[in-house]
Amino acid sequence: LPTLLSCLLICVTVPNIVLVLTDDLDITMGGVSPLNKTKKLIGDAGISFTNAFVASPLCCPSRASILTGKYPHNHHVINNTLEGNCSSKAWQKSEEAQTFPALLKSFAGYQTFFAGKYLNQYGHSEAGGVEHVPPGWNYWVGLEKNSKYYNYTLSLNGKAQKHGADYSKDYLTDVLANMSLDFLQYKSNYQPFFMMVSTPAPHSPWTAAPQYQDRFNTTKAPRDPNFNVHGKDKHWLIRQAKTPMSNSSVQFLDDAFRKRWQTLLSVDDLVEKIVERLEVRGELDNTYIFFTSDNGYHTGQFSLPVDKRQLYEFDIRVPLMVRGPNIKPNQTSQMLVANVDLGPTILDIAGYSVNKTQMDGMSFLPIMEGRMNSSSWRTDILVEYEGEGRNVSDPACPLLGPGVSECFPDCVCEDSYNNTYACVRTVAPSANLQYCEFDDNEVFAEVYNVTADPYQLTNIAKTIDQEILEKMNHRLMLLQSCSGQSCRTPVNKSQLCVQGFSCDITVNNC
Ligand SMILES: *[C@@H]1O[C@H](CO)[C@@H](O)[C@H](O)[C@H]1NC(C)=O
Ligand SMILES: *[C@@H]1O[C@H](CO)[C@@H](O)[C@H](O)[C@H]1NC(C)=O
Ligand SMILES: *[C@@H]1O[C@H](CO)[C@@H](O)[C@H](O)[C@H]1NC(C)=O
Ligand SMILES: *[C@@H]1O[C@H](CO)[C@@H](O)[C@H](O)[C@H]1NC(C)=O
Ligand SMILES: *[C@@H]1O[C@H](CO)[C@@H](O)[C@H](O)[C@H]1NC(C)=O
Ligand SMILES: *[C@@H]1O[C@H](CO)[C@@H](O)[C@H](O)[C@H]1NC(C)=O
Ligand SMILES: *[C@@H]1O[C@H](CO)[C@@H](O)[C@H](O)[C@H]1NC(C)=O
Ligand SMILES: *[C@@H]1O[C@H](CO)[C@@H](O)[C@H](O)[C@H]1NC(C)=O
Ligand SMILES: *[C@@H]1O[C@H](CO)[C@@H](O)[C@H](O)[C@H]1NC(C)=O
Ligand SMILES: *[C@@H]1O[C@H](CO)[C@@H](O)[C@H](O)[C@H]1NC(C)=O
Ligand SMILES: *[C@@H]1O[C@H](CO)[C@@H](O)[C@H](O)[C@H]1NC(C)=O
Ligand SMILES: *[C@@H]1O[C@H](CO)[C@@H](O)[C@H](O)[C@H]1NC(C)=O
Repeated sequence: LPTLLSCLLICVTVPNIVLVLTDDLDITMGGVSPLNKTKKLIGDAGISFTNAFVASPLCCPSRASILTGKYPHNHHVINNTLEGNCSSKAWQKSEEAQTFPALLKSFAGYQTFFAGKYLNQYGHSEAGGVEHVPPGWNYWVGLEKNSKYYNYTLSLNGKAQKHGADYSKDYLTDVLANMSLDFLQYKSNYQPFFMMVSTPAPHSPWTAAPQYQDRFNTTKAPRDPNFNVHGKDKHWLIRQAKTPMSNSSVQFLDDAFRKRWQTLLSVDDLVEKIVERLEVRGELDNTYIFFTSDNGYHTGQFSLPVDKRQLYEFDIRVPLMVRGPNIKPNQTSQMLVANVDLGPTILDIAGYSVNKTQMDGMSFLPIMEGRMNSSSWRTDILVEYEGEGRNVSDPACPLLGPGVSECFPDCVCEDSYNNTYACVRTVAPSANLQYCEFDDNEVFAEVYNVTADPYQLTNIAKTIDQEILEKMNHRLMLLQSCSGQSCRTPVNKSQLCVQGFSCDITVNNC
């Protein structure tokens, strides 16, 4: 009887949680268009956030922000390499045991399951190899290194499992789906569960499942107003890009765009399989399901062929949809949320307060449950990025010398050491602005009024009201040094109290 009683209590009151994390899925170029089933099963069944951002537009720093609920200046994972703390020994010692899954497991009684890409250097021989199973996971299926579709190694609870290139046995998105279903089948029914499924799609090398390889064959990257346009008033790296792009670059990016969408059809199948299995098991109504991405993407914007790493909307905005027991269907929210909020929100669902953690993010559960007034929610978040470079010349661009990376022909480089910046992104009824400062020789600044200029064609750093500029600069400095509670600023503390902005009476900084 005690078992039955505790089961009734746990199974009835404590919800399960699923997080599906995609890799490089944009929202501004229509990235969710191929995901019709996902939109129906998660978005239409719950809430879609139209202002969801990442704290850093690169895989490893962003994933570290998701896991720790912290901005990069607090988790210290600054790039995709071991030296930049991506899955490094230092990360394992300082942050990994404090991630939200670890807290869910030790303090909230959850059984936890991970499958897919973790941090880009996971499995590196200098960081414990695939024998290292991060704390916090009862069932661990970790992909060694970066996204792949075939010919990869998984860590099954610390044991290497090699995969080849046979679709029916090895296609990674499908393997993750099958392993997720197995977990649902064999998990304990006496404990709530947390399941994180982290797909390789739609990251390069964009290998579609055979049945999807001829889909979208007439689709091209969108020719939005910032497509193939010279960013002449932007920072150094963007000004290098040749405009118009060569025909071969355009062909390459259109091809990449199609293949990305093809790989997403398998993600859509994965979501459907998980939702169906939960429904068959009678667990769907007691399960929250989150769907999001680690960063956005661009194909041709400001004449950059393909990548992320830039401060613009296309790279920092991501899709975010959530369904769950207390979330009304078909909702859309414009409130400002970021990937540092995922941990606090998931812990909140499990009954664990973010106040007990060092996390920088805030729980958006009150928004999803309709208990949060937009006038009480935050109005700005921080984006931080440390540019990746090389100490030797890039073979595709000997002309520029060392310092740049990810170069295409004609010295069009997607990154450089001095592509290092921090931005404050403000979203309030009275302001939809972005203010960024570079750590480069020019101390370059970029400012956009995203309401007037959604494609960020005009940098207004030199023309914007000086008072607004100073306020945003001040906010940026505060956020860059914030930690925990001081990052979780409610609206009346962060509002920019200058002309053109509504101002709460209780603001202390005005
Ligand atoms: C998704 O649904 C839309 C509208 O019903 C349809 O036009 C489109 O072809 C569908 N996409 C896929 C990939 O099925
Ligand atoms: C790596 O993380 C450790 C521990 O947080 C920190 O002391 C170190 O400065 C970080 N390294 C870099 C390059 O940020
Ligand atoms: C997988 O590896 C095999 C053997 O090395 C190779 O022939 C094949 O082309 C690879 N396939 C993919 C998709 O990487
Ligand atoms: C996944 O499971 C299905 C059903 O058992 C099977 O047909 C398929 O081959 C499996 N796919 C992979 C990649 O293991
Ligand atoms: C595109 O794919 C469809 C089948 O999905 C096929 O009928 C058509 O011939 C293809 N078109 C091109 C240009 O490859
Ligand atoms: C590039 O493509 C454009 C438009 O499709 C065409 O007009 C032009 O001739 C092409 N240039 C070269 C060098 O092929
Ligand atoms: C959500 O809206 C769509 C489109 O308006 C509708 O078809 C669907 O039934 C709605 N779903 C729910 C659960 O209300
Ligand atoms: C967390 O701390 C904040 C600020 O001190 C407080 O307003 C809030 O009520 C606390 N939340 C919980 C759940 O204790
Ligand atoms: C929500 O905001 C509106 C307008 O800003 C205000 O009138 C109302 O009192 C607020 N409600 C709560 C519960 O704070
Ligand atoms: C990553 O960051 C570390 C620490 O600052 C630096 O040594 C390394 O060069 C960076 N890697 C790249 C590719 O920029
Ligand atoms: C950025 O770095 C590159 C090479 O590493 C250098 O050529 C360029 O002048 C630098 N630009 C700025 C604005 O610091
Ligand atoms: C931004 O643009 C909107 C729409 O054009 C305008 O109403 C607003 O005043 C602008 N804000 C700033 C700070 O320039």
